[in-house]
Amino acid sequence: MSLGTHLESEFRRLNLGARAGGADAAAAGAEPPWRRGRLKPTFSSPHLPPPLPPGISRASASIRTKKVCTSSAATDCVAAQIPRSDVITGRDDCNVTDAIHSRMGRGLHRRPGHPLSLIRAAIYEHFDARSGSEGSSFAKFDDLWPVVSAKANFDSVLVPADHVSRGYNDTYYVDADTVLRCHTSAHQAELLTAGERRFLVTGDVYRRDSIDATHYPAFHQMEGVRVFDQSEWGGEGADGTAFCQEELRKELEGLAKHLFGDVEMRWVDAYFPFTEPSMELEIFYQDEWLEVLGCGVMQPAILEAAGVDPATNKAWAFGLGLERLAMVLFGIPDIRLFWSDDERFTKQFSKGAGDKDAWRSLRFSSFSKYPPVFKDVAFWLPPSAEDGAESTFTENNLCEVVRAEGGDLIEEVKLIDEFVNKKTGRTSNCFRVTYRSMERSLTDDEINGIQTRVRERMEAELGVELR
Ligand code: PHE
Repeated sequence: MSLGTHLESEFRRLNLGARAGGADAAAAGAEPPWRRGRLKPTFSSPHLPPPLPPGISRASASIRTKKVCTSSAATDCVAAQIPRSDVITGRDDCNVTDAIHSRMGRGLHRRPGHPLSLIRAAIYEHFDARSGSEGSSFAKFDDLWPVVSAKANFDSVLVPADHVSRGYNDTYYVDADTVLRCHTSAHQAELLTAGERRFLVTGDVYRRDSIDATHYPAFHQMEGVRVFDQSEWGGEGADGTAFCQEELRKELEGLAKHLFGDVEMRWVDAYFPFTEPSMELEIFYQDEWLEVLGCGVMQPAILEAAGVDPATNKAWAFGLGLERLAMVLFGIPDIRLFWSDDERFTKQFSKGAGDKDAWRSLRFSSFSKYPPVFKDVAFWLPPSAEDGAESTFTENNLCEVVRAEGGDLIEEVKLIDEFVNKKTGRTSNCFRVTYRSMERSLTDDEINGIQTRVRERMEAELGVELR
């Protein structure tokens, strides 16, 4: 399969985005701002125009790390534990929605017998076996508070001031200095500062995004970090970075083997602001090359800021998306299923709760699907979008509106037609919204009602002119 096709792979944006200087990065630079939401370069392209809204200062807020929901019982882990007023302020600098708040604090990755928790345990197993032979284990954090300072999320891992991921179109802001973490890398600096030298961080992360079977604005990542000191790579003369990169390769190839068996793998050069060199691991699985994770040798400045001497220490870091791994390993076809309480889903995995090897043989068997309902909406973009200025219309903004009205009934939002009127110069878009419940049949009345409200809000909030 060609690289180009692979970049379009349905799994592409779940975690990592495209590689350095790749097709996506180039395309992102050339696109007008109202199209950027679709591209999701996230961290893997170096410089993109600044979509920061006016009034956003980058003054540092203190890094808040609170423990939340330490119980493993599913019922203890409910959104109620994160008060709505903590994340939804009603002010202009807040773009967190009720749909997002309702996903917070669920602790899916800690629920016994949930597929995300099974994957987490399978990864722990790999790292525990490794540390056993070396006598020192990885510290594990799976309940760090998901509301962090913009400083922790971006500055502490050297994300450039003008990077697209900092924009309101990509990230959920509680206020100008506080965000819902968009990656677990947000915790690298604070844990290093606290003296941790080998650790794994698992948690829910949040990104404004488009909607389809593999993209959901809340998902889960695991971060891994390991610091080496000079004595481990053979002293001053030796190349610590090369040593560290080699260790990282071995570690992650071992992890991929542990999870996927004897698969073909390849390393691809990548770009992340926080690592140099940076790489992505791909595995050949069911006839496709899939990105599994992003990683690299940590930038010395991150170590230094955390009080670790970069002259005598090197570190590797990796980040992976748990949903992606679980979808591949268990054959789960739709990312909404992870949030479902439908017993036809949950029962298939609950037997994994008491059996640490169950993940090896579990395979999702799909239950019958209810029919979809399609609704198309065609409209002229607001004039601002055509000027190339910041626009109220972006695909991510549209998806927020659709999800606010339709919740998890929304299966996909997809651009199906686009043209420019030669006379007026105006651009028309047509999006198809696919509604489908995983639990029941939908009625026309219900969907028409939702779609009407979506259309009204598109005019009122996104400034489009419906056709
Ligand atoms: N934080 C990166 C992402 O979410 C993944 C990553 C972590 C890459 C650590 C390199 C090192 O895309």
